[in-house]
Amino acid sequence: MTSNADQVMIFDTTLRDGEQSPGCSMTQPEKLRVAKALAELGVDVIEAGFPAASPGDWEAVNAVAREVHGPIICGLARCNRGDIEKAAKALRDAPRHRIHVFLATSAIHREYKLNMAKDEIIRSAVEGVKIARDFCEDIEFSPEDASRTELEFLAQVVEAVIDAGATTVNIPDTVGYTVPHEFAELFRYLRKNVRNIDRARLSVHCHDDLGMAVANSLMAVVAGARQIECTINGIGERAGNCSLEEVVMAMRTREAFFNARTGINSQRLYPVSRLVSSITGMPIPRNKAVVGENAFAHESGIHQHGMLKHASTYEIMRPQDVGLSRSSLVLGKHSGRHALRERIRELGFAIDDTEFARVFEEFKILADKKKELFDGDIEALVLRSEGSNGGPWTLAGLETQSGAGSARATVRLTHTDGRTVERNGEGDGPVDAAFKAIEEATGLRPVLRKFELRSLSEGEDAQGEAIVYVDHNERSYRGSSATTDIVESATRAFLEVVNRIESSQKAQAAA
Ligand code: KIV
Ligand code: ZN
Repeated sequence: MTSNADQVMIFDTTLRDGEQSPGCSMTQPEKLRVAKALAELGVDVIEAGFPAASPGDWEAVNAVAREVHGPIICGLARCNRGDIEKAAKALRDAPRHRIHVFLATSAIHREYKLNMAKDEIIRSAVEGVKIARDFCEDIEFSPEDASRTELEFLAQVVEAVIDAGATTVNIPDTVGYTVPHEFAELFRYLRKNVRNIDRARLSVHCHDDLGMAVANSLMAVVAGARQIECTINGIGERAGNCSLEEVVMAMRTREAFFNARTGINSQRLYPVSRLVSSITGMPIPRNKAVVGENAFAHESGIHQHGMLKHASTYEIMRPQDVGLSRSSLVLGKHSGRHALRERIRELGFAIDDTEFARVFEEFKILADKKKELFDGDIEALVLRSEGSNGGPWTLAGLETQSGAGSARATVRLTHTDGRTVERNGEGDGPVDAAFKAIEEATGLRPVLRKFELRSLSEGEDAQGEAIVYVDHNERSYRGSSATTDIVESATRAFLEVVNRIESSQKAQAAA
């Protein structure tokens, strides 16, 4: 290990750019849960959202600023006073906070999106940075679509915003257009041609449209970037952003080559990746680098033989370095608190006593139904969001009958306002019938867009996870649930969606 390696900051934008990706929206409790996990992972900056985008976004950024300790908490703003003031107010409770202002600089954006000339862009960028400086000292500026901006003009913008007080200048490859060598040249150009470049930290922000976000980010580091913007599992606009786990493990595995390191606790990568996947419903491809199910699986005989002789023959990272600790140990109904706590710890999750009490209670219920509990079962219990079954509706009873091509279901629901409602539904199958019964009981009729089922562990009595995606009043919602009965899982997942719709209607009415 080199000891004089430069420190590269990790700026996580899962809650902002990641959350912008279709189908990845998160509720406020979910955002808080992810933000706390990111703090434990050791990221330097959490971009918690875009406060001016909606009251919900403002609330979420404010909650993260108040409750998440350790990293710098950042909020995005366009270069106008309204946005910047909203961001500043949302962030003010965080002991260390940053305002991130952005404005597009490329000819395409200037002409078609902004209808602004070059001098207007510079004036507006400088003005934005100066307004933000009135509220805090840590200011980041991003020239959106920088990789398609004329180099000379980009250098002028960068120099002007640093003079205005920007402490970080982030260079986005907004549309994932650049290639590694070209991007490194861009960074070298800025370092050579911007007079005051040493007064700001250079940052990189890449999208993955051509599958090069990680490679482009690494080349920016080679050329002098000292902050990488990235997201867990690479989620983000369109094809996504630079994947945090990949870029971090590339730097860790090849530290001597990059002569740079991050402060990430790599053993927390796998659990955080699972958490984000479970909350957003965005699955992790089996062959995904670093955190995919197959990332450390060796199938061919030659590889297995090599591995048995020495793991380094075919493994450049150890599974435990990314927090992957699979065990053949099986827990059951006789397993006690200590064994469960230990297994949760080995799986890389850090949960507090209240959360553990909930997990232990659900573990006992599950162990009564299922003889053996595998890692997948334990992981599902831990990842299950506390808020997911938090009402207002709770499933108090479910009965189904089905024959060839038709089914009937009866659901009994209780509401936090004290009502108990029982309704029947008919459908093509028991799941369809149960959804109809819930619609009758709650009066909500979301449009079902997608329904997924998957097994969480092994064996005939494995838990089946159901994921339901619906649209309602131009918004998308997602719900999931896992039990040993797939009809019950589907019914609970649908009820979660209904609960989310009702809660969001209530929040909108209160706003
Ligand atoms: O991709 C992009 O350009 C952005 C900026 C707001 C940094 O996300
Ligand atoms: Zn982006």
